Amino acid sequence: MGRSTTAFSFSLLASLALRFVLVVQAQQNPGFISIDCGATLPYTEEKTGITYRPDEGLIDSGKIMQTSRMLTYQNNRQVLKNVRIFPNGTRNCYTLRPYQDDIQVCLVNTGKGVPFISALELRALDDGIYQVKSGFLQLHWRHDIGRTLEYDDVRHPDDAYDRIWTPQNYKFGVRINTTSPLNVSGNSDTLKYQVPGKVLNTAQRTMSAGSRFEMKWTPSGTSKKWIVYFHFVEIERLTSGLRRQFTISTIDNNFRESVSLEYLKPVVVVSPPVEGSPITFFIDSTNKSENPPILNAVEFYTIVDLPNVPTAQDDVKAINDIKAIYHIKRESWQGDPCKVIRAHGMV
Ligand SMILES: *[C@@H]1O[C@H](CO)[C@@H](O)[C@H](O)[C@H]1NC(C)=O
Ligand SMILES: *[C@@H]1O[C@H](CO)[C@@H](O)[C@H](O)[C@H]1NC(C)=O
Ligand SMILES: *[C@@H]1O[C@H](CO)[C@@H](O)[C@H](O)[C@H]1NC(C)=O
Ligand SMILES: *[C@@H]1O[C@H](CO)[C@@H](O)[C@H](O)[C@H]1NC(C)=O
Repeated sequence: MGRSTTAFSFSLLASLALRFVLVVQAQQNPGFISIDCGATLPYTEEKTGITYRPDEGLIDSGKIMQTSRMLTYQNNRQVLKNVRIFPNGTRNCYTLRPYQDDIQVCLVNTGKGVPFISALELRALDDGIYQVKSGFLQLHWRHDIGRTLEYDDVRHPDDAYDRIWTPQNYKFGVRINTTSPLNVSGNSDTLKYQVPGKVLNTAQRTMSAGSRFEMKWTPSGTSKKWIVYFHFVEIERLTSGLRRQFTISTIDNNFRESVSLEYLKPVVVVSPPVEGSPITFFIDSTNKSENPPILNAVEFYTIVDLPNVPTAQDDVKAINDIKAIYHIKRESWQGDPCKVIRAHGMV
């Protein structure tokens, strides 16, 4: 894909703008917390309908800086207008209160430059999805397969959880789409995932039943465990009696799952944690399938381990209360006094 300069600077900025999606236990009203770090007034972003508030009162350190007007103009994102930078202290923390439970988000200076942050966004998810036994999931790619508009990301309000779906097309694939609404009746899993119709209504399939989908990548850095979420929906009206049935498998066959699609009914397949270099997944038609394999959307995560559990929230609260009472503003006291969830600036 040939990317223009504008698109490049956008993807660069997107990685600079730290975007946290913490999995918070969903209650009656799954909520958003959207903070524009360094902003002076609250505002609602027109395109997404998301209301951002300034970060004042959530942090007592750092300095507000303006980014270049050119960048803001090119990307048309108000959250990128200001940043909060942390030239002092090795650890600077935000205290957020989604429900009764405080969450501390800390920027840790790892010696590679001054940490900064553009925005901090928390989204409450249904607690039955995106689960891992320990640690948490870190998103690498979230692809909307088969869309024709290359730079048209899908997010809130199309996505109730404000996941950002980026258009992606495989060279070997044939693009297909439908305008028919999905059928999610009686399908609790797909109701929970709530992948937008706009994302699932486009897909790619391979040329023929005999050709496979191959997903292969070489993870950079330290070896990690990956989890892949595959989203499938039959969006073609198949000739009566003919099937679309395929298997999703890893190259070593340690993971293998069969899927048989019904018209407009979404199916989610979650891989087990896989590791290696490269990592390869195949989607192959089964012998009983007259139709090629299809893929509508896919998400790639790595599992990030937490070396130990955070300090009991009562302790954090007690220390924050002491800070407030005595007006202490010491960097060495910021965040969880015993352990921090470290937020590394991705520069
Ligand atoms: C950083 O520390 C210096 C020296 O103590 C102080 O003058 C300055 O205001 C601090 N800057 C920020 C952003 O806290
Ligand atoms: C759907 O397919 C048609 C025909 O190929 C194409 O013109 C249109 O842009 C596609 N729509 C989407 C959302 O990809
Ligand atoms: C949706 O699926 C259900 C159960 O498979 C089926 O009974 C119903 O007719 C479908 N609805 C539509 C609009 O196709
Ligand atoms: C599919 O058919 C081929 C050739 O008939 C056979 O070798 C292969 O084992 C079959 N695969 C499965 C999964 O049954």
